[in-house]
Amino acid sequence: MKIIRTLPSMTAWSERLRREGVTIGFVPTMGALHDGHRSLIRAARLQCDALVVSIFVNPTQFSPTEDLAKYPRPIAKDRSLCRAEGVDVCFEPTAQAMYPEGFQTVIIVPAITKLWEGASRPHHFGGVAVVVTKLFGMVRPHVALFGQKDYQQAAAVKQLVKDLNLGVAIQVRPTVRERDGLAMSSRNVYLSANERRIAPLLSQALQIGKRMIADGIRDVAAIERAMQQTLKREPTIQVEYLSVCDPDSLEPLPVITTRAVILVAVRIGSIRLIDNMLVKISS
Ligand code: PAF
Repeated sequence: MKIIRTLPSMTAWSERLRREGVTIGFVPTMGALHDGHRSLIRAARLQCDALVVSIFVNPTQFSPTEDLAKYPRPIAKDRSLCRAEGVDVCFEPTAQAMYPEGFQTVIIVPAITKLWEGASRPHHFGGVAVVVTKLFGMVRPHVALFGQKDYQQAAAVKQLVKDLNLGVAIQVRPTVRERDGLAMSSRNVYLSANERRIAPLLSQALQIGKRMIADGIRDVAAIERAMQQTLKREPTIQVEYLSVCDPDSLEPLPVITTRAVILVAVRIGSIRLIDNMLVKISS
């Protein structure tokens, strides 16, 4: 596995492979890789000739009060996971090279990022949009894979690629969960033993919402109420948002007709967790 650190070397590698007709798959990450990333890497490996994983803790998607400095960076472990999964290139650019003095471009995907994570973390999606666009420009992938866990991020990236004609196929893969249902996330390492015990309530609440819809309940307010009640079983959980939404626009739905996504964000102590569930009504 090749480790590429400079931007020109990444571009040169991709240009060469593209000239040779090689299909390039790409999994962008911030490192601290877990089985969720592994499943994206495996899916990409199966469908592409060459596979790039980027490891870059992107400072512009963190607000000044967020956890940039203490974000986990187990680089040796990450590289060995990539090596074991047959990754061809681990792209590890530096923040200085990505954002040199004088960097000024902003990219906003306004409608899709207005609510939910976008409202809770106003800096976040601007940073994601810029870094993803830059990474795509250097890696030049044919296909890039994202996890459903960050549903709004994947929706924003799809819109960005469409609006800016970036020419990358975006695949969104299902969330990988721990045995007790907790969605895998690099931030789960921050949970104390007690918080970790409580955290699966998030996916349990989503399951309750899904089951109510499967049982024919279409009243969103009733579904959200039942889910809130599940979460309230643990007083340390603070719900930031919980909403049944249109899966494309991410606007709240008053009534469910065909498809929906249930989005939820909570705080358990100082740790913020998000999760979601896609629901399709079979006729
Ligand atoms: O999902 C992530 O890990 C990040 O937001 C991404 C897409 C790698 C951009 O920094």
